[in-house]
Amino acid sequence: MHTRKILVTGGAGFIGSHVVRRLVKAYPQYHIYNLDKLTYAGNLMNLLDIEHATNYSFIKGDIVDDAFVTRLFEEVQFDGVIHLAAESHVDRSISNPTEFIKTNVLGTVNLLNAAKASWKDGFDGRRFYHISTDEVYGSLGETGLFHETTAYDPRSPYSSSKASSDHLVRAYFHTYGLPVVISNCSNNYGSFQFPEKLIPLAINNIKNNKPVPVYGKGENVRDWLFVEDHAAAIDLIFHQGRNGETYNIGGANEWKNIDLIHALCSIMDRKLNRQPGTSAGLITFVKDRAGHDHRYAIDFGKLNRELGWKPSLRFEEGLEKTVDWYLANEEWLKSVTSGEYQHYYEDQYIKR
Ligand code: NAD
Ligand code: TYD
Repeated sequence: MHTRKILVTGGAGFIGSHVVRRLVKAYPQYHIYNLDKLTYAGNLMNLLDIEHATNYSFIKGDIVDDAFVTRLFEEVQFDGVIHLAAESHVDRSISNPTEFIKTNVLGTVNLLNAAKASWKDGFDGRRFYHISTDEVYGSLGETGLFHETTAYDPRSPYSSSKASSDHLVRAYFHTYGLPVVISNCSNNYGSFQFPEKLIPLAINNIKNNKPVPVYGKGENVRDWLFVEDHAAAIDLIFHQGRNGETYNIGGANEWKNIDLIHALCSIMDRKLNRQPGTSAGLITFVKDRAGHDHRYAIDFGKLNRELGWKPSLRFEEGLEKTVDWYLANEEWLKSVTSGEYQHYYEDQYIKR
Protein backbone atom coordinates (compact mmCIF):
# COMPACT_ATOMS: atom_id res chain seq x y z
CA MET A 1 0.00 0.00 0.00
CA HIS A 2 1.50 3.32 -1.04
CA THR A 3 1.12 6.12 1.50
CA ARG A 4 1.66 9.09 -0.81
CA LYS A 5 1.11 9.68 -4.50
CA ILE A 6 3.72 12.05 -5.86
CA LEU A 7 3.57 13.59 -9.32
CA VAL A 8 6.91 14.49 -10.90
CA THR A 9 6.53 16.50 -14.13
CA GLY A 10 9.34 16.40 -16.69
CA GLY A 11 10.67 13.19 -15.13
CA ALA A 12 12.05 11.92 -18.45
CA GLY A 13 14.37 14.92 -18.77
CA PHE A 14 17.85 15.43 -17.40
CA ILE A 15 17.23 16.57 -13.81
CA GLY A 16 13.75 15.03 -13.60
CA SER A 17 15.08 11.53 -14.32
CA HIS A 18 17.55 11.84 -11.43
CA VAL A 19 14.74 13.04 -9.14
CA VAL A 20 12.43 10.18 -10.20
CA ARG A 21 15.18 7.58 -9.71
CA ARG A 22 16.06 8.93 -6.28
CA LEU A 23 12.44 9.02 -5.06
CA VAL A 24 11.50 5.59 -6.48
CA LYS A 25 14.49 4.02 -4.72
CA ALA A 26 14.43 5.97 -1.44
CA TYR A 27 10.67 5.88 -0.82
CA PRO A 28 9.20 2.45 -1.62
CA GLN A 29 6.16 3.53 0.40
CA TYR A 30 5.37 6.30 -2.14
CA HIS A 31 4.03 5.90 -5.65
CA ILE A 32 5.91 8.11 -8.10
CA TYR A 33 4.02 9.22 -11.24
CA ASN A 34 6.19 10.66 -14.00
CA LEU A 35 4.22 12.96 -16.31
CA ASP A 36 6.14 13.93 -19.43
CA LYS A 37 5.28 15.00 -22.97
CA LEU A 38 8.47 13.40 -24.31
CA THR A 39 9.63 16.40 -26.29
CA TYR A 40 13.06 16.12 -27.92
CA ALA A 41 14.46 16.56 -24.36
CA GLY A 42 12.47 13.74 -22.77
CA ASN A 43 14.01 10.30 -22.97
CA LEU A 44 12.63 7.21 -21.28
CA MET A 45 15.99 5.54 -21.78
CA ASN A 46 17.12 7.76 -18.88
CA LEU A 47 15.03 5.56 -16.57
CA LEU A 48 15.63 1.99 -17.77
CA ASP A 49 16.85 0.86 -14.34
CA ILE A 50 13.59 1.72 -12.56
CA GLU A 51 10.95 1.52 -15.30
CA HIS A 52 9.53 -1.74 -13.93
CA ALA A 53 9.55 -0.70 -10.25
CA THR A 54 6.17 -1.39 -8.61
CA ASN A 55 6.02 2.12 -7.14
CA TYR A 56 6.58 3.88 -10.49
CA SER A 57 4.25 4.81 -13.36
CA PHE A 58 4.87 6.77 -16.53
CA ILE A 59 2.14 8.99 -17.99
CA LYS A 60 2.63 10.57 -21.41
CA GLY A 61 0.93 13.96 -21.54
CA ASP A 62 1.23 17.67 -22.11
CA ILE A 63 0.93 20.10 -19.18
CA VAL A 64 -0.33 22.74 -21.62
CA ASP A 65 -3.50 20.65 -22.15
CA ASP A 66 -5.60 21.91 -19.23
CA ALA A 67 -8.49 19.44 -19.69
CA PHE A 68 -6.04 16.54 -19.57
CA VAL A 69 -4.24 17.93 -16.52
CA THR A 70 -7.51 18.55 -14.63
CA ARG A 71 -8.73 15.02 -15.39
CA LEU A 72 -5.46 13.47 -14.30
CA PHE A 73 -5.54 15.25 -10.93
CA GLU A 74 -9.19 14.22 -10.42
CA GLU A 75 -8.41 10.60 -11.23
CA VAL A 76 -5.20 10.11 -9.26
CA GLN A 77 -5.58 12.55 -6.31
CA PHE A 78 -1.88 13.31 -5.91
CA ASP A 79 -0.57 14.29 -2.46
CA GLY A 80 2.41 16.19 -3.82
CA VAL A 81 3.74 17.69 -7.03
CA ILE A 82 7.38 18.25 -7.97
CA HIS A 83 7.23 20.35 -11.12
CA LEU A 84 10.26 20.18 -13.42
CA ALA A 85 8.64 20.02 -16.89
CA ALA A 86 9.86 22.94 -18.93
CA GLU A 87 11.48 24.05 -22.12
CA SER A 88 14.97 24.57 -20.74
CA HIS A 89 17.46 25.61 -23.42
CA VAL A 90 18.26 29.35 -23.68
CA ASP A 91 19.34 29.15 -27.35
CA ARG A 92 16.05 27.50 -28.35
CA SER A 93 14.15 30.19 -26.42
CA ILE A 94 15.88 32.82 -28.54
CA SER A 95 14.70 31.18 -31.77
CA ASN A 96 11.22 30.13 -30.54
CA PRO A 97 10.02 32.05 -27.44
CA THR A 98 6.34 31.10 -27.77
CA GLU A 99 6.89 27.43 -26.98
CA PHE A 100 8.56 28.55 -23.71
CA ILE A 101 5.60 30.70 -22.71
CA LYS A 102 3.19 27.85 -23.41
CA THR A 103 4.96 25.15 -21.43
CA ASN A 104 6.71 27.18 -18.73
CA VAL A 105 3.96 29.70 -17.97
CA LEU A 106 0.64 28.20 -19.11
CA GLY A 107 1.70 24.67 -18.20
CA THR A 108 2.58 25.79 -14.67
CA VAL A 109 -0.76 27.61 -14.24
CA ASN A 110 -2.62 24.50 -15.41
CA LEU A 111 -0.86 22.42 -12.75
CA LEU A 112 -1.51 25.03 -10.05
CA ASN A 113 -5.23 25.15 -10.96
CA ALA A 114 -5.52 21.38 -11.02
CA ALA A 115 -3.76 21.02 -7.65
CA LYS A 116 -5.95 23.72 -6.10
CA ALA A 117 -9.12 22.06 -7.43
CA SER A 118 -8.18 18.54 -6.38
CA TRP A 119 -7.10 19.69 -2.89
CA LYS A 120 -10.37 21.52 -2.19
CA ASP A 121 -10.94 19.46 0.98
CA GLY A 122 -7.80 20.99 2.56
CA PHE A 123 -4.08 21.49 2.03
CA ASP A 124 -2.80 19.44 5.01
CA GLY A 125 0.02 17.07 4.04
CA ARG A 126 -0.01 18.41 0.49
CA ARG A 127 2.67 20.33 -1.35
CA PHE A 128 3.36 21.91 -4.74
CA TYR A 129 7.11 22.22 -5.35
CA HIS A 130 8.20 24.36 -8.30
CA ILE A 131 11.73 23.86 -9.63
CA SER A 132 13.28 27.02 -11.02
CA THR A 133 16.58 28.50 -12.07
CA ASP A 134 19.06 31.13 -10.88
CA GLU A 135 18.71 32.76 -14.33
CA VAL A 136 15.57 34.60 -13.10
CA TYR A 137 17.87 36.93 -11.12
CA GLY A 138 19.57 38.22 -14.28
CA SER A 139 23.27 38.72 -14.82
CA LEU A 140 26.00 39.58 -12.29
CA GLY A 141 29.15 41.65 -12.77
CA GLU A 142 32.51 40.39 -11.53
CA THR A 143 31.42 40.24 -7.88
CA GLY A 144 28.35 39.47 -5.77
CA LEU A 145 25.96 36.55 -5.40
CA PHE A 146 22.27 35.91 -6.02
CA HIS A 147 20.32 35.76 -2.74
CA GLU A 148 16.69 34.67 -2.31
CA THR A 149 15.87 38.39 -1.92
CA THR A 150 17.63 39.53 -5.12
CA ALA A 151 15.18 41.36 -7.40
CA TYR A 152 14.12 39.38 -10.47
CA ASP A 153 15.73 40.67 -13.69
CA PRO A 154 15.39 37.92 -16.33
CA ARG A 155 16.92 38.69 -19.71
CA SER A 156 16.26 35.75 -22.04
CA PRO A 157 12.88 34.40 -23.15
CA TYR A 158 13.74 31.24 -21.15
CA SER A 159 14.54 33.03 -17.89
CA SER A 160 11.58 35.39 -18.36
CA SER A 161 9.20 32.47 -18.72
CA LYS A 162 10.66 30.82 -15.59
CA ALA A 163 10.44 34.13 -13.67
CA SER A 164 6.82 34.46 -14.72
CA SER A 165 6.02 30.96 -13.48
CA ASP A 166 7.79 31.64 -10.14
CA HIS A 167 5.63 34.74 -9.63
CA LEU A 168 2.47 32.76 -10.38
CA VAL A 169 3.44 30.00 -7.95
CA ARG A 170 3.95 32.64 -5.23
CA ALA A 171 0.65 34.30 -6.17
CA TYR A 172 -1.19 30.99 -5.56
CA PHE A 173 0.41 30.84 -2.10
CA HIS A 174 -0.61 34.39 -1.17
CA THR A 175 -4.02 34.38 -2.86
CA TYR A 176 -5.28 30.86 -2.26
CA GLY A 177 -2.99 29.56 0.48
CA LEU A 178 -1.73 26.76 -1.81
CA PRO A 179 1.18 25.06 0.02
CA VAL A 180 4.02 25.86 -2.37
CA VAL A 181 7.78 25.90 -2.19
CA ILE A 182 10.27 27.08 -4.85
CA SER A 183 13.96 26.48 -5.43
CA ASN A 184 16.29 28.29 -7.84
CA CYS A 185 19.37 26.36 -8.85
CA SER A 186 22.52 27.09 -10.85
CA ASN A 187 23.78 25.12 -13.90
CA ASN A 188 23.61 21.34 -13.47
CA TYR A 189 25.92 18.78 -15.03
CA GLY A 190 26.16 14.98 -14.95
CA SER A 191 24.78 11.87 -16.63
CA PHE A 192 21.75 11.86 -18.99
CA GLN A 193 22.03 15.54 -20.01
CA PHE A 194 20.92 16.22 -23.58
CA PRO A 195 24.03 17.08 -25.63
CA GLU A 196 22.85 20.55 -26.60
CA LYS A 197 24.02 21.97 -23.25
CA LEU A 198 27.65 22.99 -22.86
CA ILE A 199 29.27 20.06 -21.01
CA PRO A 200 27.74 17.02 -22.80
CA LEU A 201 27.99 18.85 -26.15
CA ALA A 202 31.70 19.48 -25.59
CA ILE A 203 32.35 15.88 -24.45
CA ASN A 204 30.53 14.48 -27.49
CA ASN A 205 32.30 16.79 -29.94
CA ILE A 206 35.75 16.18 -28.46
CA LYS A 207 35.15 12.44 -28.61
CA ASN A 208 34.18 12.71 -32.29
CA ASN A 209 36.96 15.17 -33.16
CA LYS A 210 34.44 17.89 -34.00
CA PRO A 211 34.86 21.63 -33.28
CA VAL A 212 33.89 22.69 -29.75
CA PRO A 213 31.94 25.95 -30.12
CA VAL A 214 32.71 28.59 -27.48
CA TYR A 215 30.40 31.62 -27.57
CA GLY A 216 32.10 35.04 -27.73
CA LYS A 217 35.41 35.04 -25.90
CA GLY A 218 34.41 32.29 -23.46
CA GLU A 219 34.55 34.75 -20.56
CA ASN A 220 31.03 34.19 -19.27
CA VAL A 221 30.91 32.61 -15.83
CA ARG A 222 28.58 29.85 -14.63
CA ASP A 223 28.25 28.10 -11.27
CA TRP A 224 28.12 24.32 -11.75
CA LEU A 225 26.40 21.74 -9.54
CA PHE A 226 26.47 17.94 -9.90
CA VAL A 227 22.93 16.87 -10.82
CA GLU A 228 22.70 14.22 -8.06
CA ASP A 229 23.41 16.95 -5.50
CA HIS A 230 20.51 18.93 -6.96
CA ALA A 231 18.26 15.86 -6.70
CA ALA A 232 19.30 15.47 -3.04
CA ALA A 233 18.43 19.12 -2.38
CA ILE A 234 15.04 18.67 -4.08
CA ASP A 235 14.28 15.63 -1.90
CA LEU A 236 15.17 17.62 1.23
CA ILE A 237 13.21 20.75 0.28
CA PHE A 238 10.16 18.71 -0.77
CA HIS A 239 10.07 17.03 2.63
CA GLN A 240 11.36 19.75 4.95
CA GLY A 241 11.21 23.14 3.22
CA ARG A 242 8.81 25.74 4.58
CA ASN A 243 5.67 26.67 2.66
CA GLY A 244 5.83 29.95 0.77
CA GLU A 245 9.64 30.00 0.89
CA THR A 246 12.29 30.10 -1.81
CA TYR A 247 15.60 28.25 -1.48
CA ASN A 248 18.63 28.96 -3.64
CA ILE A 249 20.77 25.95 -4.60
CA GLY A 250 24.31 26.24 -5.96
CA GLY A 251 27.71 24.64 -6.20
CA ALA A 252 30.03 27.43 -4.91
CA ASN A 253 31.85 26.48 -8.08
CA GLU A 254 32.29 29.29 -10.58
CA TRP A 255 34.06 28.70 -13.89
CA LYS A 256 34.70 30.85 -16.93
CA ASN A 257 33.45 28.85 -19.92
CA ILE A 258 36.86 28.83 -21.58
CA ASP A 259 38.62 27.53 -18.44
CA LEU A 260 35.99 24.84 -18.03
CA ILE A 261 36.43 23.73 -21.66
CA HIS A 262 40.21 23.57 -21.20
CA ALA A 263 39.77 21.44 -18.05
CA LEU A 264 37.45 19.12 -19.98
CA CYS A 265 39.91 18.90 -22.88
CA SER A 266 42.72 17.75 -20.55
CA ILE A 267 40.51 15.09 -18.99
CA MET A 268 39.46 13.90 -22.47
CA ASP A 269 43.09 13.78 -23.70
CA ARG A 270 43.96 11.56 -20.73
CA LYS A 271 40.90 9.29 -21.08
CA LEU A 272 41.29 8.90 -24.85
CA ASN A 273 45.08 8.50 -24.71
CA ARG A 274 45.60 11.57 -26.85
CA GLN A 275 48.70 13.80 -26.74
CA PRO A 276 48.13 16.57 -24.15
CA GLY A 277 46.76 19.61 -26.01
CA THR A 278 45.11 17.62 -28.81
CA SER A 279 41.50 18.19 -27.72
CA ALA A 280 42.11 21.90 -27.01
CA GLY A 281 42.90 22.22 -30.72
CA LEU A 282 39.16 21.65 -31.36
CA ILE A 283 38.13 24.82 -29.48
CA THR A 284 36.44 27.20 -31.92
CA PHE A 285 35.27 30.69 -30.96
CA VAL A 286 31.87 31.41 -32.50
CA LYS A 287 29.40 34.32 -32.58
CA ASP A 288 28.17 35.21 -29.10
CA ARG A 289 24.67 34.31 -27.89
CA ALA A 290 22.28 37.31 -28.13
CA GLY A 291 21.88 38.94 -24.69
CA HIS A 292 24.36 36.47 -23.18
CA ASP A 293 24.22 36.77 -19.35
CA HIS A 294 27.72 37.45 -18.05
CA ARG A 295 27.85 35.70 -14.69
CA TYR A 296 25.69 33.61 -12.34
CA ALA A 297 26.68 32.87 -8.72
CA ILE A 298 24.53 31.64 -5.86
CA ASP A 299 24.37 32.14 -2.11
CA PHE A 300 22.91 28.83 -0.83
CA GLY A 301 23.43 29.77 2.86
CA LYS A 302 19.71 29.61 3.68
CA LEU A 303 19.40 26.00 2.48
CA ASN A 304 22.58 25.11 4.34
CA ARG A 305 21.50 26.77 7.62
CA GLU A 306 17.88 25.57 7.58
CA LEU A 307 18.19 22.09 6.12
CA GLY A 308 21.91 21.28 6.33
CA TRP A 309 22.41 20.80 2.55
CA LYS A 310 25.72 21.35 0.81
CA PRO A 311 27.30 20.03 -2.42
CA SER A 312 28.93 16.63 -1.90
CA LEU A 313 31.50 16.57 -4.72
CA ARG A 314 34.44 18.66 -5.79
CA PHE A 315 34.04 19.80 -9.42
CA GLU A 316 37.16 17.97 -10.62
CA GLU A 317 35.70 14.73 -9.26
CA GLY A 318 32.24 15.42 -10.69
CA LEU A 319 33.62 16.30 -14.11
CA GLU A 320 35.74 13.13 -14.18
CA LYS A 321 32.70 11.02 -13.22
CA THR A 322 30.63 12.75 -15.89
CA VAL A 323 33.22 12.18 -18.63
CA ASP A 324 33.50 8.50 -17.57
CA TRP A 325 29.72 8.15 -17.80
CA TYR A 326 29.44 9.59 -21.33
CA LEU A 327 32.37 7.48 -22.53
CA ALA A 328 30.90 4.32 -20.98
CA ASN A 329 27.40 5.01 -22.32
CA GLU A 330 28.13 5.27 -25.99
CA GLU A 331 24.81 3.61 -26.89
CA TRP A 332 22.83 6.24 -24.98
CA LEU A 333 24.78 9.06 -26.63
CA LYS A 334 24.37 7.49 -30.06
CA SER A 335 20.63 6.97 -29.67
CA VAL A 336 20.23 10.57 -28.50
CA THR A 337 22.31 12.12 -31.25
CA SER A 338 20.65 9.98 -33.95
CA GLY A 339 17.10 10.58 -32.65
CA GLU A 340 16.55 6.83 -32.21
CA TYR A 341 15.56 7.33 -28.54
CA GLN A 342 12.32 8.93 -29.72
CA HIS A 343 11.01 5.51 -30.81
CA TYR A 344 11.53 3.95 -27.39
CA TYR A 345 8.14 5.06 -26.01
CA GLU A 346 6.26 3.55 -28.95
CA ASP A 347 8.24 0.32 -28.82
CA GLN A 348 7.95 -0.19 -25.06
CA TYR A 349 4.62 1.35 -24.14
CA ILE A 350 2.41 1.18 -27.26
CA LYS A 351 3.34 -1.89 -29.32
CA ARG A 352 3.55 -4.27 -26.35
P1 NAD B 1 15.21 19.06 -19.77
O1 NAD B 1 14.97 19.93 -20.94
O2 NAD B 1 16.29 18.05 -19.79
O3 NAD B 1 13.85 18.26 -19.42
C1 NAD B 1 12.57 18.84 -19.49
C2 NAD B 1 11.53 17.72 -19.51
O4 NAD B 1 10.23 18.33 -19.55
C3 NAD B 1 11.64 16.81 -20.74
O5 NAD B 1 11.55 15.46 -20.33
C4 NAD B 1 10.44 17.22 -21.59
O6 NAD B 1 9.94 16.15 -22.39
C5 NAD B 1 9.45 17.65 -20.53
N1 NAD B 1 8.46 18.60 -21.07
C6 NAD B 1 8.71 19.70 -21.83
N2 NAD B 1 7.56 20.29 -22.19
C7 NAD B 1 6.55 19.57 -21.61
C8 NAD B 1 5.14 19.68 -21.58
N3 NAD B 1 4.52 20.67 -22.24
N4 NAD B 1 4.43 18.78 -20.88
C9 NAD B 1 5.03 17.77 -20.22
N5 NAD B 1 6.38 17.60 -20.22
C10 NAD B 1 7.13 18.49 -20.90
O7 NAD B 1 15.36 20.06 -18.54
P2 NAD B 1 16.28 19.95 -17.23
O8 NAD B 1 17.59 20.51 -17.51
O9 NAD B 1 16.14 18.59 -16.65
O10 NAD B 1 15.51 20.99 -16.29
C11 NAD B 1 14.42 20.57 -15.47
C12 NAD B 1 13.89 21.75 -14.69
O11 NAD B 1 14.93 22.30 -13.90
C13 NAD B 1 13.38 22.89 -15.58
O12 NAD B 1 12.22 23.44 -14.97
C14 NAD B 1 14.53 23.90 -15.58
O13 NAD B 1 14.04 25.21 -15.75
C15 NAD B 1 15.10 23.69 -14.19
N6 NAD B 1 16.54 23.97 -14.03
C16 NAD B 1 17.46 23.42 -14.88
C17 NAD B 1 18.82 23.66 -14.69
C18 NAD B 1 19.88 23.03 -15.56
O14 NAD B 1 21.07 23.36 -15.41
N7 NAD B 1 19.56 22.12 -16.45
C19 NAD B 1 19.23 24.49 -13.64
C20 NAD B 1 18.26 25.05 -12.79
C21 NAD B 1 16.92 24.76 -12.99
P1 TYD C 1 24.21 26.20 -21.43
O1 TYD C 1 24.72 24.84 -21.12
O2 TYD C 1 23.36 26.41 -22.64
O3 TYD C 1 23.47 26.73 -20.11
P2 TYD C 1 22.92 28.23 -19.75
O4 TYD C 1 22.87 29.05 -20.96
O5 TYD C 1 21.56 27.93 -19.21
O6 TYD C 1 23.87 28.76 -18.70
O7 TYD C 1 25.47 27.18 -21.56
C1 TYD C 1 26.43 27.33 -20.52
C2 TYD C 1 27.38 28.42 -20.94
O8 TYD C 1 28.16 27.96 -22.06
C3 TYD C 1 26.70 29.70 -21.41
O9 TYD C 1 27.49 30.81 -21.00
C4 TYD C 1 26.70 29.58 -22.92
C5 TYD C 1 27.98 28.80 -23.20
N1 TYD C 1 27.97 27.89 -24.37
C6 TYD C 1 29.02 27.90 -25.28
O10 TYD C 1 29.99 28.69 -25.15
N2 TYD C 1 29.01 27.02 -26.32
C7 TYD C 1 27.97 26.13 -26.51
O11 TYD C 1 27.98 25.37 -27.49
C8 TYD C 1 26.89 26.11 -25.56
C9 TYD C 1 25.73 25.17 -25.72
C10 TYD C 1 26.94 27.01 -24.50
